[in-house]
Amino acid sequence: APVQVKKICCIGAGYVGGPTCAVIALKCPHIQVTIVDLNKARVDAWNSPDFAVPIYEPGLVDVVKQCRGRNLFFSTDVDKAILEADLIFVSVNTPTKKSGVGAGFAADLNYVESATRRIAAVATSSKIVVEKSTVPCRTAESMRTILEANSRPGTRFDILSNPEFLAEGTAIADLFKPDRVLIGSLQTTEGKEACRALADVYANWVPQERILTVGLWSSELSKLAANAMLAQRISSINALSAICEATGANIDEVSHAVGFDSRIGPKFLRASVGFGGSCFQKDILNLVYLSESLHLPQVAAYWRQVVEMNEYQKSRFSKTVVDTLFNTITGKHIAVLGFAFKADTGDTRESAAISLIRDFLSERAFVTIVHSALEACTQKEAIIIATEWKEFLEIDWQTVYANMSKPAFVFDGRLLIDADKLRKIGFKVKVIGRGERV
Ligand code: UDX
Ligand code: UDX
Ligand code: ADP
Repeated sequence: APVQVKKICCIGAGYVGGPTCAVIALKCPHIQVTIVDLNKARVDAWNSPDFAVPIYEPGLVDVVKQCRGRNLFFSTDVDKAILEADLIFVSVNTPTKKSGVGAGFAADLNYVESATRRIAAVATSSKIVVEKSTVPCRTAESMRTILEANSRPGTRFDILSNPEFLAEGTAIADLFKPDRVLIGSLQTTEGKEACRALADVYANWVPQERILTVGLWSSELSKLAANAMLAQRISSINALSAICEATGANIDEVSHAVGFDSRIGPKFLRASVGFGGSCFQKDILNLVYLSESLHLPQVAAYWRQVVEMNEYQKSRFSKTVVDTLFNTITGKHIAVLGFAFKADTGDTRESAAISLIRDFLSERAFVTIVHSALEACTQKEAIIIATEWKEFLEIDWQTVYANMSKPAFVFDGRLLIDADKLRKIGFKVKVIGRGERV
């Protein structure tokens, strides 16, 4: 009989599983959604009476307020949720391996495997199992092998790949209006039927033409490819920013001019101190590892260079700071504005700010942690803008200037501030990708 999804279980209440399944619950009032996690503190936070949810994401609390207790539930009872569900999202973490084969490159699939084994051990009826975590190609195949080897008679498992493309900070907007929903399945009758059942869930709010159905391997690879190509655009523009600084061109003007070509497009061409976040570096390193495993060293080297350019951009920026502050920052006091990997998120994973601060500390500068930008800047020799929070645009720069040691330097790693305005106040300003003298 054609499957109609009535109960969904999501394993993993993190940055991906939490917002994604909360939005499914909002858009599909007829489906019961239970999000489970082994981390009790995290589940408690999702369930907190004052909606102190564990993830800072604009609009998320509104969504949870509308459906929690109605058709959206958070729980630590993983087994119960597995038992009841028709469809299970596996949305657990897949960090880069720290040791063993592929250390520093390959994804650690330990969490995916244990969640999969749990499903096999607990399920007493057939399930559609959906791989949501970003994973290397052919993980779905491994999940299928584990499930089939451990299933009870009469229970069948259909595996789908349904990578998530939301960006942090705009997760809810991205989920409400995704560019596309990608579903990969085996091209068998059962595989296509499972694919249709999941597509029907999304069809409650996503236009049909934006729901793309492809093979399992294509789906898995597309996720890595999308992130690798986005990161590659940033590394390309950052490589050009170095040329701009050396020659007096302006990276904003170059990005603007290049982005006007409809074949290139204007988005994701903003020079920065380097990309961060939990996805880009991890996914590219996965792609590098995959390429090497497939004996494609030239392909591996091509993608590795995207990460190397990003490392170079971060260290180049640190060096600019040291060079400009008369070749030494030892004993100097530096304010770093922003620690998250981008604005509008509380996430600091792989944030460029971390690399910068590490560099400053190794030069024996002083970096302290405070809660207000104004306080951070008081009596400092230099200000580094590391995250593009709007708050930093709006601080009273006149007061900041008055409180700083002189000469007062500002280094804008995010193309955030109006450099001319700050220069009029008296600041010495360096902006990434601009060749002018301070
Ligand atoms: C290019 C630029 O497009 C143009 O803006 C610039 O002024 C001159 O250089 P051109 O070399 O004439 O123009 O052709 P283009 O259509 O860009 O193709 C260049 C090469 O890329 C061709 O060999 C084409 O077959 C190849 N190509 C293009 C691909 O392999 N795949 C694609 O998706 C697009
Ligand atoms: C990314 C992808 O965008 C998303 O589709 C995928 O599902 C997960 O990975 P995310 O890492 O949350 O999302 O944020 P994103 O907006 O892509 O930014 C990543 C990093 O690139 C940030 O550090 C950001 O500041 C930087 N960035 C982005 C630039 O430096 N310049 C740009 O033009 C865009
Ligand atoms: P992502 O950014 O991919 O969402 P997170 O680390 O934010 O990653 O979230 C993943 C969540 O998955 C974590 O809260 C972790 O506790 C949870 N998790 C990992 N393994 C399991 C498991 N076997 N069962 C239930 N939850 C799990």
